[in-house]
Amino acid sequence: MPSPNEILSELKKVKYPGFTRDIVSFGMVKDIEVAYAGVTVFLTVPSGNPEIASKIAEDVRKMVAAMPGVPDVRVEVEEPAPAQPQAAAGHARREIPDVAHVVAVASGKGGVGKSTVAVNLALAMKELGWRVGLMDADVYGPSVAMMVGAEAPVKVTPERKIVPLERYGIRYVSMGLFVHDQQAVIWRGPMVTKLELEFLFNVQWGELDCLVLDLPPGTGDAQLTITQRVKLDGGVIVTTPQEMALLDVRRGVQMFQEVEVPVLGVVENMSYYVCRKCGSRHQIFSHGGGENLARELGVPFLGELPLVREVREGGDQALPLVAVNPSHPVSAAFKSLAARVIEQLEPAR
Ligand SMILES: Nc1ncnc2c1ncn2[C@@H]1O[C@H](COP(=O)(O)OP(=O)(O)OP(=O)(O)O)[C@@H](O)[C@H]1O
Ligand SMILES: [Mg+2]
Repeated sequence: MPSPNEILSELKKVKYPGFTRDIVSFGMVKDIEVAYAGVTVFLTVPSGNPEIASKIAEDVRKMVAAMPGVPDVRVEVEEPAPAQPQAAAGHARREIPDVAHVVAVASGKGGVGKSTVAVNLALAMKELGWRVGLMDADVYGPSVAMMVGAEAPVKVTPERKIVPLERYGIRYVSMGLFVHDQQAVIWRGPMVTKLELEFLFNVQWGELDCLVLDLPPGTGDAQLTITQRVKLDGGVIVTTPQEMALLDVRRGVQMFQEVEVPVLGVVENMSYYVCRKCGSRHQIFSHGGGENLARELGVPFLGELPLVREVREGGDQALPLVAVNPSHPVSAAFKSLAARVIEQLEPAR
């Protein structure tokens, strides 16, 4: 059975009817599922003409069916979402007062280390002299509070502004500090996002050079709403080297491009493992995928971070590596990541 990436490469041969450009570069391949029973390709075809969609679907089906080892192919064409200019115009993008830059950390799938990267990136920016805030926008899995050790009750000023907690020299806030687990289960979807945005604009950040937002995992409606409503300066996409995770990078890039937010780059986390005994580097998954994909998508590659025990322990014990062990080689890697982000936000600095 071919891998999703191999199928994707093959689909670059399918042209949009009447064009020389292929459907992959048009961003029409939304997902590829490879299962034991066969392959499912999810397409989105932005044409009102149903003949075009069925022609493309048929070309895709034939192309994938011709690949060796594919028992069955299904093609699902998703209706393109209707344009919502009114909705977008009704909620113009807002700036957060006194905050010079806002960067969102996103990932196509969960568990790739997005919160770990957000926390350590924020701390590394602080090490480089920036005033930094960190907001956990993931209500269902507010792991950032645990990673930075924020449990104190959050204070509210007489003007009803939320006072961020200060940890390791950065300001931190999360709606998770207000929402108990049970409520989080009741509050679903758009309502949470709406509250969260209100919340975000209501924090007394003070002057910040950068606010780092740890977005919830995925690239669905919640993430899109946040990226549409907050004036973002850029997005950072975290991935791991597995092929399926890489496929999600594409979605992350598309999400930011859809709302015209520059992609500052892709970070490959848990990219390799350094053996504690022999000190040599082990590539557990195939190497170079993140970098190649970033190049293909025309976005910067920000670097690789190894899988190391100190990173996980630091996260579990509220002792984030960059803060407690700034001379660790992985802290240095986070600092060079932060430097690349800063360079793009303020080229003259
Ligand atoms: N480079 C790394 N080395 C070792 N452990 C890591 C590394 N990056 C992340 N981890 C560990 O992997 C787990 C998942 O990381 P994290 O919570 O940051 O992921 P996430 O993408 O934010 O997940 P979620 O989708 O649940 O929000 C954590 O236990 C974290 O400590
Ligand atoms: Mg997380």
